[in-house]
Order: sequence, then C-alpha cells, then structure tokens
Amino acid sequence: MPPDLNRRRVLAAMAALPVDGPGGAEPAPASLRAAARLSGRWYGGAARLDHLQGDADFRAALVRECGVLTPELELKWAALEPRRGELDFRRMDALIDFARQAGVAVHGHTLVWHRSIPDWAQAAMQGPADWRLIERYFASVIPRYGEAITRWDVVNEPIDPAAADGLRDSAYKRAFGPDYVRRALETARVFAPNAKLMINEYGLEYDDAEDRPRRAAFLRLLDRLQAKGAPLDGVGLQSHLNLGKGRLSQTSLRAFLHELAARGLFVSVSELDVKELDYASPVERRDAAVAALAQAYLDAALDEPRMVGVTTWGLSDRYSWLEVTPADLRRFPGAWRDGSTPGVNRGLPLDAALQRKPMYQAMLAAFAAAPGKTAGSSII
Ligand code: XIL
Repeated sequence: MPPDLNRRRVLAAMAALPVDGPGGAEPAPASLRAAARLSGRWYGGAARLDHLQGDADFRAALVRECGVLTPELELKWAALEPRRGELDFRRMDALIDFARQAGVAVHGHTLVWHRSIPDWAQAAMQGPADWRLIERYFASVIPRYGEAITRWDVVNEPIDPAAADGLRDSAYKRAFGPDYVRRALETARVFAPNAKLMINEYGLEYDDAEDRPRRAAFLRLLDRLQAKGAPLDGVGLQSHLNLGKGRLSQTSLRAFLHELAARGLFVSVSELDVKELDYASPVERRDAAVAALAQAYLDAALDEPRMVGVTTWGLSDRYSWLEVTPADLRRFPGAWRDGSTPGVNRGLPLDAALQRKPMYQAMLAAFAAAPGKTAGSSII
C-alpha cells in the first residue's frame, strides 16, 4: 500500500475519535493498536499481572493501546514451577482471562530462557541429560494455553558470539549440547501444531562492534536450524535501544532484516524501549531524543514487508524495567542541586502519568508511513 494512502487512513481513524484538550482543535490520536492495524501489523506491550490488577488507569491504558499482551514474568518457567511438579498456573490463567475479556491477544514469552530456570531444574540438568524434563514442562504449559497463545518465543537469548558455535554457555547447552535449540523447537511443535514458533534475541539492532558479531552468530544459528528442517516460523528482535550506543544505522538494519526475511522467516520487534543517556537535560530534550531514535529504528524496521508487529517492553514509564542507575547519575556531577530529580527513564510511549509522549507520536507516524506487509497475515 502506498505510504500516503496509509497515512490518510490513520488520519481518518484519528478524526473519527472525539476531540480532546482544552481548545478541542486537535483530534485525539488513534490508539497504537489501531495505527499498527492499519499497516497490517500488531502493536503490543509487555506487562505484569500485579500492575494490571492493582492499577486501573494502567489497565485501561493497556487495553486502549495494545492489541497484544506479553506476560512480563508470569509465563516463565521459574514463575510457573518453582518446585518440581508443583505447577502454579494461577497468575498466568488470570492474565489469560484478563486478556480474553479485554479482547487482547497474548504472546507466549518464553519457554526456554537461561535466566528463568527453576533451581530444581538447574540441579536436575547437572545430572545425566534427560530431555523428558523439557518435554514434561512443555506438555504441561503449551496445551493449557493452546487456544489462547498462537505465537511462542520457544528459545530466548541463545546467542553468544564469543562461543565457537555462537551459542551461549547456558544450562541448556551444557546439559543437552548445542542441538537443544532444534530439539526445543521440535518439542514445541508436537504440543503446538498450529502456533508460530519463534526465537527471540537481543543485541541485533546496531551496526557496531558489539552487535555485528551477534547478528552473524544469529544468522549462522538460523541457517543450521533450517538445514536440519527445524520448525521455526519467525524471529523476535528485542530492540532494547540505547542512546548511549551511538548512531543507529538504518541501512545496515534494513540489510539485516532482509537477510532474515530471505530465509522465509517473519520478523517482529518484540521488546522495544529506549535507555536514555542524558538525564540532566530538560524533559522536552530527553523526550525528543528518545522519540527520534524510536522513529529512526521503526522507520527502517517497518520498511521490511515481513515485519509483522511491534511490542514495547512495558507501555508506560511508570513500570519500565529500565532504571536510572547510580552510575547514570554520577555522569552529571552537580546536576539536580536545586532539589529536582531526573525522575524515571523515559523510554516508553506513555510517561509515568500515562500521558502520550513524543515517542508515542513517533510510533504513530512510523506505522502511518510503513509500507504494507506481505508475510503471515494470519499471525496478527
Ligand atoms: C525481564 C522483566 O522485565 C523483569 O521484570 C524480570 O525481572 C527479568 O526479565 N529480555 C527478555 C525479558 O526477554 O524476558 C526480560 O524481562 C527483559 C530482557
């Protein structure tokens, strides 16, 4: 679809909403989910059940803005099975019920992640390798949410470019060898015959000394998996952007996404947020920097026709996992002497008061300008 037609549709959707603001002159913007939908994609946010349950305003904002909800904690193995065989589905079930009632889809994050292995399973994996451990876990979780979850991050963060095989030295790799990624996909496929199976990874966003080898290792992993016929449908780029990382190359990002798409995979932005660098500037300057980076990233990412959706890791700065650290503050000696504070990291579309920020507008603009997608229309 030509970008201008897309933009007209977004503007039409905006105009249909009631006006807001004192003058009433500005039409209220459409939601992010509506803007994404107009480009044939999804927009979603990650959130925790306790925040959704305890904060009605946040809950309303999430339902208004997000077509997809990613459980921030509730679907991780350590949260579900803290003691062997004692599966506690209460929080995840509640999250699914909430999403169903709100008309929001749920993204399956995540089955195999080195940072969410229960202690007892860590210990078990140090004994003789027994894949039934993983089978049992998948069998108890995946079919339970079979209707509600149509996309799974089967493996999260497997890459370490420093390793000879490009795979992180995790408990999974130590127990089952580097083939564990393929086996996890095969096992997930048994229990989720129709779901989209994905690998999710970070550090693929920049054309710098850190991310370049990560991109190469990631592509090598995908090639090995595909050579063995592993059931892999798509990949998630976490997209934790960082204003301290220097320039973002749209050209190299487009080329990397093209490499992924050329493998027949669909691609998504799965955990977008922006870590700030300069906490001492006026808020307007900070917000403009965050918005510019998010827009530069999304403008390039959404050029890829096989890019199917965008999720931010959180929705509001009120509950961002990104913190302003003491080390961040030490970079600005003498700042905040007047008793003011830098506040929270402002790297999500809504501020801590749930107001739309320049990043929000940048995302609307990126969706409006995005060419239509070609891949996987059934997965949004
Ligand atoms: C994070 C959550 O946001 C935190 O609350 C939790 O303590 C640790 O996990 N990449 C991922 C996510 O894939 O699962 C992580 O979520 C953030 C980094």
